Amino acid sequence: MTDIISSTQSHTRGNDDEPLLSVRDLTVTFQRHGDEPFVAVDKVSFDLRPGDTLGIVGESGSGKSVTSLAIMGLLPDRGVRVEGEVLYNGQDLLKLSPTQMRDRRGAELGMIFQDPLSSLNPVVPIGLQVTEVLERHRGLSRKAATPLAREMLDRVGIPDPDRRLKDYAHQLSGGMRQRALIAMALAASPRVLIADEPTTALDVTIQAQILAVLKDLVEDTGTALIMITHDLGVVAGLVDTVNVMYAGRVVERADRHPLFAEPRHPYTAGLLASIPRLDGSRGERLRPIPGSVADNLPWTSACAFAPRCSQPIDQCVAQTPELVEHGDRALRCFNPMEVPR
Ligand SMILES: Nc1ncnc2c1ncn2[C@@H]1O[C@H](COP(=O)(O)OP(=O)(O)OP(=O)(O)O)[C@@H](O)[C@H]1O
Ligand SMILES: [Mg+2]
Repeated sequence: MTDIISSTQSHTRGNDDEPLLSVRDLTVTFQRHGDEPFVAVDKVSFDLRPGDTLGIVGESGSGKSVTSLAIMGLLPDRGVRVEGEVLYNGQDLLKLSPTQMRDRRGAELGMIFQDPLSSLNPVVPIGLQVTEVLERHRGLSRKAATPLAREMLDRVGIPDPDRRLKDYAHQLSGGMRQRALIAMALAASPRVLIADEPTTALDVTIQAQILAVLKDLVEDTGTALIMITHDLGVVAGLVDTVNVMYAGRVVERADRHPLFAEPRHPYTAGLLASIPRLDGSRGERLRPIPGSVADNLPWTSACAFAPRCSQPIDQCVAQTPELVEHGDRALRCFNPMEVPR
Protein backbone atom coordinates (compact mmCIF):
# COMPACT_ATOMS: atom_id res chain seq x y z
CA MET A 1 0.00 0.00 0.00
CA THR A 2 2.77 2.39 0.98
CA ASP A 3 4.58 1.95 -2.33
CA ILE A 4 1.44 2.49 -4.31
CA ILE A 5 0.55 5.63 -2.44
CA SER A 6 4.08 6.96 -2.84
CA SER A 7 3.94 6.44 -6.57
CA THR A 8 1.10 8.95 -6.86
CA GLN A 9 3.54 11.60 -5.71
CA SER A 10 6.31 10.55 -8.07
CA HIS A 11 6.35 13.74 -10.11
CA THR A 12 6.75 15.99 -7.11
CA ARG A 13 9.88 17.48 -5.68
CA GLY A 14 11.87 15.79 -2.98
CA ASN A 15 11.14 12.46 -4.56
CA ASP A 16 14.00 10.65 -2.88
CA ASP A 17 13.23 12.02 0.57
CA GLU A 18 11.31 10.14 3.15
CA PRO A 19 7.79 11.49 3.53
CA LEU A 20 7.52 14.38 5.95
CA LEU A 21 3.98 13.42 6.86
CA SER A 22 2.60 9.96 6.36
CA VAL A 23 -1.02 9.37 7.27
CA ARG A 24 -1.88 5.68 7.51
CA ASP A 25 -5.43 4.35 7.78
CA LEU A 26 -6.53 7.32 9.85
CA THR A 27 -9.92 6.51 11.35
CA VAL A 28 -11.97 8.76 13.62
CA THR A 29 -15.04 7.42 15.40
CA PHE A 30 -17.37 9.60 17.45
CA GLN A 31 -19.27 7.89 20.25
CA ARG A 32 -22.44 9.89 20.43
CA HIS A 33 -24.66 9.49 23.47
CA GLY A 34 -27.18 6.72 22.96
CA ASP A 35 -26.35 6.49 19.25
CA GLU A 36 -24.37 3.98 17.25
CA PRO A 37 -20.70 5.00 16.98
CA PHE A 38 -20.26 7.30 13.98
CA VAL A 39 -17.21 6.83 11.75
CA ALA A 40 -16.45 10.33 10.46
CA VAL A 41 -13.11 9.43 8.85
CA ASP A 42 -12.48 5.90 7.62
CA LYS A 43 -8.99 4.59 6.80
CA VAL A 44 -7.65 7.70 5.11
CA SER A 45 -4.01 7.38 3.93
CA PHE A 46 -1.63 9.72 2.14
CA ASP A 47 2.03 10.79 2.05
CA LEU A 48 3.46 14.28 1.85
CA ARG A 49 7.06 15.19 1.07
CA PRO A 50 8.50 18.69 1.41
CA GLY A 51 6.98 20.89 -1.27
CA ASP A 52 4.11 18.49 -1.98
CA THR A 53 0.61 19.87 -2.25
CA LEU A 54 -2.47 17.78 -1.60
CA GLY A 55 -6.09 18.82 -2.00
CA ILE A 56 -8.76 17.14 0.12
CA VAL A 57 -12.07 17.82 -1.54
CA GLY A 58 -15.61 16.83 -0.63
CA GLU A 59 -19.01 18.11 0.35
CA SER A 60 -19.98 19.38 3.78
CA GLY A 61 -19.77 16.59 6.37
CA SER A 62 -17.42 14.37 4.36
CA GLY A 63 -14.81 14.40 7.13
CA LYS A 64 -12.33 16.98 5.85
CA SER A 65 -12.06 19.06 9.02
CA VAL A 66 -12.09 16.00 11.28
CA THR A 67 -9.17 14.60 9.26
CA SER A 68 -7.16 17.79 9.78
CA LEU A 69 -8.06 18.14 13.45
CA ALA A 70 -6.99 14.52 14.02
CA ILE A 71 -3.62 15.19 12.35
CA MET A 72 -3.14 18.31 14.48
CA GLY A 73 -4.16 16.51 17.68
CA LEU A 74 -7.02 18.93 18.20
CA LEU A 75 -10.02 16.63 18.54
CA PRO A 76 -11.73 16.56 21.95
CA ASP A 77 -10.24 13.84 24.17
CA ARG A 78 -13.64 12.46 25.17
CA GLY A 79 -16.20 10.70 23.02
CA VAL A 80 -13.85 10.17 20.12
CA ARG A 81 -11.52 7.36 19.07
CA VAL A 82 -8.65 8.03 16.70
CA GLU A 83 -6.94 5.04 15.07
CA GLY A 84 -4.20 4.57 12.49
CA GLU A 85 -0.93 6.47 12.32
CA VAL A 86 0.09 10.05 11.65
CA LEU A 87 3.84 9.79 11.10
CA TYR A 88 5.70 13.11 11.11
CA ASN A 89 9.38 12.52 10.31
CA GLY A 90 8.72 8.92 11.19
CA GLN A 91 7.24 9.65 14.63
CA ASP A 92 3.60 8.81 15.32
CA LEU A 93 1.92 12.04 16.42
CA LEU A 94 -1.07 10.12 17.73
CA LYS A 95 1.18 8.71 20.46
CA LEU A 96 2.45 12.09 21.70
CA SER A 97 1.25 13.75 24.90
CA PRO A 98 -0.82 16.95 24.58
CA THR A 99 2.25 18.98 25.64
CA GLN A 100 4.53 17.33 23.08
CA MET A 101 1.88 17.91 20.45
CA ARG A 102 1.50 21.57 21.40
CA ASP A 103 5.23 22.04 20.87
CA ARG A 104 4.91 20.77 17.31
CA ARG A 105 2.04 23.06 16.38
CA GLY A 106 3.00 26.36 14.81
CA ALA A 107 6.52 25.93 13.43
CA GLU A 108 6.23 22.30 12.39
CA LEU A 109 2.52 21.79 11.84
CA GLY A 110 0.54 24.88 10.98
CA MET A 111 -3.17 25.13 10.46
CA ILE A 112 -5.45 27.76 9.04
CA PHE A 113 -8.83 27.08 10.58
CA GLN A 114 -12.20 27.23 8.93
CA ASP A 115 -13.53 29.51 11.67
CA PRO A 116 -11.28 32.56 12.02
CA LEU A 117 -12.96 34.29 14.95
CA SER A 118 -12.47 31.40 17.35
CA SER A 119 -8.79 31.13 16.45
CA LEU A 120 -7.73 34.75 16.97
CA ASN A 121 -7.05 36.12 20.42
CA PRO A 122 -9.75 38.76 21.08
CA VAL A 123 -7.67 40.83 23.51
CA VAL A 124 -4.40 41.13 21.57
CA PRO A 125 -4.12 43.41 18.50
CA ILE A 126 -3.68 41.33 15.36
CA GLY A 127 -0.33 42.93 14.47
CA LEU A 128 1.03 41.87 17.84
CA GLN A 129 -0.33 38.36 17.35
CA VAL A 130 1.60 38.02 14.09
CA THR A 131 4.67 39.63 15.71
CA GLU A 132 4.55 37.14 18.58
CA VAL A 133 4.44 34.22 16.16
CA LEU A 134 7.55 35.59 14.44
CA GLU A 135 9.31 36.01 17.79
CA ARG A 136 8.34 32.59 19.09
CA HIS A 137 8.82 30.47 16.00
CA ARG A 138 11.54 32.30 14.12
CA GLY A 139 13.46 33.65 17.10
CA LEU A 140 13.22 37.27 15.94
CA SER A 141 13.45 40.26 18.25
CA ARG A 142 10.37 42.46 18.65
CA LYS A 143 12.17 45.15 16.66
CA ALA A 144 12.90 42.83 13.76
CA ALA A 145 9.51 41.12 13.89
CA THR A 146 7.28 44.22 13.79
CA PRO A 147 8.07 45.36 10.22
CA LEU A 148 7.90 41.75 9.06
CA ALA A 149 4.43 41.41 10.62
CA ARG A 150 3.37 44.47 8.70
CA GLU A 151 4.74 42.92 5.52
CA MET A 152 2.84 39.68 6.17
CA LEU A 153 -0.45 41.56 6.61
CA ASP A 154 0.26 43.41 3.40
CA ARG A 155 1.08 40.15 1.61
CA VAL A 156 -2.26 38.55 2.46
CA GLY A 157 -4.10 41.61 1.15
CA ILE A 158 -4.94 43.55 4.30
CA PRO A 159 -5.22 47.17 3.19
CA ASP A 160 -3.58 49.87 5.28
CA PRO A 161 -1.57 47.36 7.32
CA ASP A 162 0.06 50.05 9.50
CA ARG A 163 -3.33 50.95 10.92
CA ARG A 164 -4.57 47.35 10.99
CA LEU A 165 -1.61 46.21 13.08
CA LYS A 166 -3.28 47.91 16.03
CA ASP A 167 -6.78 46.55 15.40
CA TYR A 168 -8.42 43.81 17.46
CA ALA A 169 -10.14 40.82 15.86
CA HIS A 170 -13.65 42.21 16.50
CA GLN A 171 -12.79 45.35 14.52
CA LEU A 172 -12.13 43.34 11.38
CA SER A 173 -14.61 41.97 8.86
CA GLY A 174 -14.85 38.19 8.46
CA GLY A 175 -12.68 38.20 5.36
CA MET A 176 -10.12 40.44 7.04
CA ARG A 177 -9.93 38.12 10.07
CA GLN A 178 -9.39 35.17 7.79
CA ARG A 179 -6.50 37.03 6.18
CA ALA A 180 -5.01 37.89 9.59
CA LEU A 181 -5.18 34.22 10.51
CA ILE A 182 -3.46 33.24 7.29
CA ALA A 183 -0.73 35.81 8.00
CA MET A 184 -0.21 34.20 11.43
CA ALA A 185 0.03 30.70 10.02
CA LEU A 186 2.49 31.85 7.34
CA ALA A 187 4.56 33.80 9.88
CA ALA A 188 5.42 30.54 11.65
CA SER A 189 6.70 29.15 8.32
CA PRO A 190 5.50 25.63 9.15
CA ARG A 191 6.90 22.50 7.48
CA VAL A 192 3.37 21.17 7.01
CA LEU A 193 0.47 23.58 6.60
CA ILE A 194 -3.14 22.45 6.67
CA ALA A 195 -5.45 25.08 5.22
CA ASP A 196 -9.10 24.26 5.97
CA GLU A 197 -11.34 26.22 3.59
CA PRO A 198 -9.03 29.21 3.96
CA THR A 199 -10.70 31.25 1.27
CA THR A 200 -14.38 30.38 1.59
CA ALA A 201 -15.27 33.66 3.30
CA LEU A 202 -13.32 35.78 0.84
CA ASP A 203 -14.28 37.37 -2.43
CA VAL A 204 -12.68 35.97 -5.58
CA THR A 205 -9.96 38.60 -5.97
CA ILE A 206 -8.70 38.12 -2.43
CA GLN A 207 -9.15 34.37 -2.81
CA ALA A 208 -6.81 34.37 -5.81
CA GLN A 209 -4.33 36.50 -3.88
CA ILE A 210 -4.32 34.11 -0.90
CA LEU A 211 -3.88 31.10 -3.15
CA ALA A 212 -0.91 32.83 -4.77
CA VAL A 213 0.59 33.51 -1.34
CA LEU A 214 0.19 29.83 -0.39
CA LYS A 215 1.79 28.77 -3.67
CA ASP A 216 4.75 31.07 -3.01
CA LEU A 217 5.12 29.63 0.47
CA VAL A 218 5.34 26.11 -0.93
CA GLU A 219 7.80 27.13 -3.62
CA ASP A 220 9.99 29.33 -1.40
CA THR A 221 10.17 27.24 1.74
CA GLY A 222 9.24 23.69 0.70
CA THR A 223 6.29 23.68 3.08
CA ALA A 224 4.04 20.69 2.42
CA LEU A 225 0.49 21.94 1.95
CA ILE A 226 -2.83 20.24 2.55
CA MET A 227 -5.61 22.31 1.06
CA ILE A 228 -9.08 21.41 2.26
CA THR A 229 -12.09 22.61 0.32
CA HIS A 230 -15.54 21.69 -0.92
CA ASP A 231 -14.72 23.50 -4.17
CA LEU A 232 -12.61 21.71 -6.77
CA GLY A 233 -12.14 25.09 -8.43
CA VAL A 234 -10.02 26.26 -5.48
CA VAL A 235 -7.48 23.45 -5.86
CA ALA A 236 -7.47 23.63 -9.67
CA GLY A 237 -4.39 25.82 -9.95
CA LEU A 238 -2.70 24.88 -6.71
CA VAL A 239 -2.24 21.23 -5.79
CA ASP A 240 -0.37 18.27 -7.30
CA THR A 241 -2.63 15.55 -5.98
CA VAL A 242 -6.30 15.47 -5.03
CA ASN A 243 -8.06 13.16 -2.59
CA VAL A 244 -11.80 13.24 -3.15
CA MET A 245 -13.69 12.29 0.02
CA TYR A 246 -17.26 11.13 0.38
CA ALA A 247 -18.88 10.25 3.71
CA GLY A 248 -15.54 9.82 5.48
CA ARG A 249 -13.79 7.75 2.81
CA VAL A 250 -11.49 8.59 -0.05
CA VAL A 251 -13.42 7.67 -3.21
CA GLU A 252 -10.87 8.84 -5.77
CA ARG A 253 -7.25 9.94 -5.69
CA ALA A 254 -5.28 11.21 -8.66
CA ASP A 255 -2.88 13.87 -9.76
CA ARG A 256 -4.66 17.09 -10.48
CA HIS A 257 -4.43 17.09 -14.28
CA PRO A 258 -5.72 13.56 -14.93
CA LEU A 259 -8.39 14.06 -12.28
CA PHE A 260 -9.76 17.17 -13.95
CA ALA A 261 -9.36 15.78 -17.47
CA GLU A 262 -10.77 12.32 -16.77
CA PRO A 263 -12.65 11.97 -13.49
CA ARG A 264 -13.40 8.27 -12.96
CA HIS A 265 -15.70 8.42 -9.93
CA PRO A 266 -19.22 9.67 -10.69
CA TYR A 267 -18.97 11.81 -7.55
CA THR A 268 -15.82 13.53 -8.82
CA ALA A 269 -17.49 13.99 -12.20
CA GLY A 270 -20.48 15.52 -10.38
CA LEU A 271 -18.25 17.92 -8.45
CA LEU A 272 -16.57 18.99 -11.68
CA ALA A 273 -19.88 19.55 -13.41
CA SER A 274 -20.97 21.81 -10.57
CA ILE A 275 -18.08 24.30 -10.79
CA PRO A 276 -18.17 27.23 -13.19
CA ARG A 277 -15.57 26.88 -15.94
CA LEU A 278 -13.94 29.76 -17.70
CA ASP A 279 -13.71 27.67 -20.87
CA GLY A 280 -17.36 26.51 -20.66
CA SER A 281 -19.57 27.55 -23.50
CA ARG A 282 -21.89 30.39 -22.70
CA GLY A 283 -25.26 29.39 -21.41
CA GLU A 284 -23.95 25.98 -20.31
CA ARG A 285 -25.71 25.13 -17.09
CA LEU A 286 -24.01 24.04 -13.91
CA ARG A 287 -25.35 20.74 -12.71
CA PRO A 288 -25.51 20.31 -8.95
CA ILE A 289 -25.27 16.73 -7.65
CA PRO A 290 -28.83 15.61 -6.86
CA GLY A 291 -29.87 14.62 -3.32
CA SER A 292 -27.91 15.18 -0.13
CA VAL A 293 -25.74 13.27 2.31
CA ALA A 294 -28.96 12.38 4.16
CA ASP A 295 -29.57 9.86 1.35
CA ASN A 296 -26.27 8.03 2.01
CA LEU A 297 -26.19 4.26 2.40
CA PRO A 298 -23.87 2.77 5.04
CA TRP A 299 -20.38 2.01 3.69
CA THR A 300 -20.47 -1.28 5.60
CA SER A 301 -22.91 -2.79 3.10
CA ALA A 302 -22.96 -0.55 0.02
CA CYS A 303 -21.48 2.43 -1.73
CA ALA A 304 -22.59 5.40 0.38
CA PHE A 305 -22.93 7.52 -2.76
CA ALA A 306 -25.12 5.05 -4.71
CA PRO A 307 -28.48 6.81 -4.07
CA ARG A 308 -27.11 10.02 -5.62
CA CYS A 309 -25.03 8.41 -8.34
CA SER A 310 -25.65 9.04 -12.04
CA GLN A 311 -24.93 5.42 -13.01
CA PRO A 312 -25.44 2.96 -10.15
CA ILE A 313 -25.53 -0.78 -10.80
CA ASP A 314 -26.99 -3.51 -8.57
CA GLN A 315 -23.64 -4.19 -6.92
CA CYS A 316 -23.44 -0.61 -5.60
CA VAL A 317 -26.32 -1.10 -3.17
CA ALA A 318 -25.27 -4.62 -2.11
CA GLN A 319 -21.52 -4.51 -1.55
CA THR A 320 -18.82 -2.20 -0.21
CA PRO A 321 -16.49 -0.91 -2.93
CA GLU A 322 -12.80 -0.98 -1.93
CA LEU A 323 -10.27 1.70 -2.83
CA VAL A 324 -8.41 0.04 -5.70
CA GLU A 325 -5.13 1.31 -7.14
CA HIS A 326 -4.97 1.74 -10.92
CA GLY A 327 -1.46 2.80 -11.90
CA ASP A 328 -0.93 6.10 -10.14
CA ARG A 329 -4.61 6.66 -9.37
CA ALA A 330 -6.96 5.09 -6.89
CA LEU A 331 -10.68 4.56 -7.20
CA ARG A 332 -13.50 3.23 -5.03
CA CYS A 333 -16.24 2.46 -7.55
CA PHE A 334 -17.96 -0.53 -9.15
CA ASN A 335 -19.08 1.36 -12.24
CA PRO A 336 -16.68 4.20 -13.04
CA MET A 337 -17.07 6.82 -15.74
CA GLU A 338 -15.97 5.76 -19.21
CA VAL A 339 -12.64 7.14 -20.26
CA PRO A 340 -12.96 8.65 -23.74
CA ARG A 341 -10.49 6.99 -26.14
N1 LIG B 1 -17.15 16.67 17.83
C1 LIG B 1 -17.95 15.93 17.06
N2 LIG B 1 -18.83 15.05 17.58
C2 LIG B 1 -19.62 14.29 16.82
N3 LIG B 1 -19.64 14.33 15.47
C3 LIG B 1 -18.80 15.20 14.87
C4 LIG B 1 -17.92 16.05 15.63
N4 LIG B 1 -17.19 16.80 14.76
C5 LIG B 1 -17.61 16.44 13.51
N5 LIG B 1 -18.56 15.48 13.58
C6 LIG B 1 -19.23 14.85 12.44
O1 LIG B 1 -18.26 14.30 11.57
C7 LIG B 1 -18.65 14.46 10.21
C8 LIG B 1 -17.54 15.13 9.44
O2 LIG B 1 -17.41 16.47 9.89
P1 LIG B 1 -16.34 17.47 9.29
O3 LIG B 1 -16.40 18.69 10.13
O4 LIG B 1 -15.04 16.81 9.14
O5 LIG B 1 -16.95 17.78 7.85
P2 LIG B 1 -16.32 18.68 6.70
O6 LIG B 1 -16.03 17.77 5.56
O7 LIG B 1 -15.20 19.47 7.24
O8 LIG B 1 -17.55 19.60 6.31
P3 LIG B 1 -17.63 21.19 6.00
O9 LIG B 1 -17.38 21.31 4.53
O10 LIG B 1 -19.03 21.55 6.36
O11 LIG B 1 -16.62 21.88 6.84
C9 LIG B 1 -19.95 15.25 10.22
O12 LIG B 1 -21.02 14.35 10.06
C10 LIG B 1 -19.97 15.87 11.60
O13 LIG B 1 -21.29 16.03 12.05
MG1 LIG C 1 -14.93 21.46 7.61
